[in-house]
Amino acid sequence: MKTKIIDGRAMAAGVRERVAKLVATLKDRHGITPGLAVVLVGDNPASRIYIRNKGKATKAAGMNSFEHRFDASLSEGDLLKLIDQLNKDQTVNGILVQLPLPDHIDDAKVISAISPDKDVDGFHVINAGLLATGGDGLVPCTPLGCLLMLKKYAGKLSGKNAFVIGRSNIVGKPMAQLLLKESCTVTIGHSKTRDLRAECLRADIIVTAVGVAHLVKGDMIKAGAVIIDVGQNVILAPEKGEGKTRLVGDVDFEAALGVASAITPVPGGVGPMTIACLLKNTLTATLKQHGIPERELV
Ligand code: GUN
Repeated sequence: MKTKIIDGRAMAAGVRERVAKLVATLKDRHGITPGLAVVLVGDNPASRIYIRNKGKATKAAGMNSFEHRFDASLSEGDLLKLIDQLNKDQTVNGILVQLPLPDHIDDAKVISAISPDKDVDGFHVINAGLLATGGDGLVPCTPLGCLLMLKKYAGKLSGKNAFVIGRSNIVGKPMAQLLLKESCTVTIGHSKTRDLRAECLRADIIVTAVGVAHLVKGDMIKAGAVIIDVGQNVILAPEKGEGKTRLVGDVDFEAALGVASAITPVPGGVGPMTIACLLKNTLTATLKQHGIPERELV
């Protein structure tokens, strides 16, 4: 079987272009420019790169980007005060606090301080609850991007066996909820799952988000399955030279070729879609806050 390699960069460019067009129309017709505030506490190198890319993408889509960077010593109280200000600020339509936060700050307390209608990460319990109960809240960006890819590459989702590996609040749980909403038969796997291979082999769709390089091997994949690999693992790459590394997903990509019908590469698969969906969520949040239906801009 020829395996289609899903081009996340190209798909993300399409989403970003559509968002940029709608943002331009929103400005023209209503004089509104969506604004996204991103908050970084500390100097985690990966977080700094994410924040920089998010800021660039926000501006490229014609939105305002407000960056708030702090030393790792920022107190929880001061962070909560900032969030309160951003909640009240009419020019800020979306708020994203980059995780992980330093140990002395309680992530859950910070997330629940963000106004749910500005929670473009979709992490607030109100948004998680709306997703679980079939409501219309903001949906976490990575699983939203994965769903858009599945809708394009997995055909009709209804009735398919979907296996989600990973049970995080950021990816695994919301991904499972989204697939359930699409009428898939959903199984969630995790570190205590007894027979990962058997669960994988039953799946028409596999979404992995665990951070274990090459966890899913070629002989664990059902012929024709569609695979979305959210994993981002740095491994040693002696073929590139001593001490060199490379980025791989949770799936043995080479071994999946010829077995799966479609697969996302790492890098260049899910990653670019996450940022595109953040822009999409920021636009969605802005429109909801102003009571403007999206169809009015099309
Ligand atoms: N850290 C890693 N991924 C994410 C994300 O999607 N949102 C936030 N806020 N922090 C993250």
